[in-house]
Amino acid sequence: MAEQGLHEDVSAKLLAWYDAHARELPWRSRPGIRPDPYHVWLSEIMLQQTTVAAVRDYYIKFLSLWPTVSDLAKASQEDVLRAWAGLGYYARARNLHACAIKVVNDWHGKFPDTEEALRSLPGIGPYTAGAIAAIAFDRPHAAVDGNVERVMARLYAIETPLPAAKPLIRERAQALVPAKRAGDFAQALMDLGATICTPRTPNCRICPCTDHCAGRALGIAENLPRKAPKAKVPTRRGIAFWVERDDGHILLRQRPQKGLLGGMMEIPSTPWEAKLPRDVVAPLTADWNKLKAPIEHTFTHFHLQLNVWKTATAEQSLPAGDGYRWVHKDELVHEALPSLMRKVVVAALDVPSRLRKAG
Ligand code: ADE
Repeated sequence: MAEQGLHEDVSAKLLAWYDAHARELPWRSRPGIRPDPYHVWLSEIMLQQTTVAAVRDYYIKFLSLWPTVSDLAKASQEDVLRAWAGLGYYARARNLHACAIKVVNDWHGKFPDTEEALRSLPGIGPYTAGAIAAIAFDRPHAAVDGNVERVMARLYAIETPLPAAKPLIRERAQALVPAKRAGDFAQALMDLGATICTPRTPNCRICPCTDHCAGRALGIAENLPRKAPKAKVPTRRGIAFWVERDDGHILLRQRPQKGLLGGMMEIPSTPWEAKLPRDVVAPLTADWNKLKAPIEHTFTHFHLQLNVWKTATAEQSLPAGDGYRWVHKDELVHEALPSLMRKVVVAALDVPSRLRKAG
């Protein structure tokens, strides 16, 4: 079969499969129906580096708090960060808010409908712009995420390891995009990668592309994509200071806007460095009860071991310095505490229920 015909055959089979088997996800419209660009954008930002299972409830919560992009633009950044707490990669939340404001101010509250214009908005990179342009506006763009890379590497038996194979994979994916229903096609590939063409033991028996899959024909599908060995991430260490007032208030601090976990709340801590500080600077002078096991948390570029030191105090005033606040421990659940800091709370209180919302 000529190359173009082969592409059309693969895309047609995938679309037919999608019509029958698309996952029902809260941000999706039915196959063939255009979804609301605000819904598409919100879901795509949340889905960056995050699984569908983790995103689902956050997406529903955001839409109920802010049903339109104008509502989101009017929210305070603090409220947005608070609602985002636990989803990770917090720059996304700050950019989300900035993007909503820009869409309202510069685009009359309507998302632009081209990949190029979408890319000019905060938090929208090449992948997300392609995904939104395809899903919300049916523009013929590929949306190549990790799942789709795996599908492409197998379909075309691409043995060059990632990330070197990325340009070729992108080219192959783009060549498959059909002239019509590009959005359904993008999501069909995502669903195929998530449900059939899975990292381990792909279910080739029921795959709509099995007859076209070079990886399967060569018996190497399961071993693709190949990946260049990852550099080991370094470990950093620090101390978080759990200061509990005798009326049940806990000392919190807002992190600086710029940098990791920017603008989020934290249990005040030392800087996180390769070695624990020799001269520990705590927010107050006290007798500290040091918890035995540090909290372990992995960020993209480093692993963190965060020791927790606890003390009780009758002191009402705040330490010198920016961003400190007293918050009652029953109210911690409403704070913009990232997952790492939630782990600290659970370890310090010894009861996870403090962070569980009622109902
Ligand atoms: N991952 C990224 N975008 C997605 C979408 N629209 N549907 C399912 N998974 C996704």
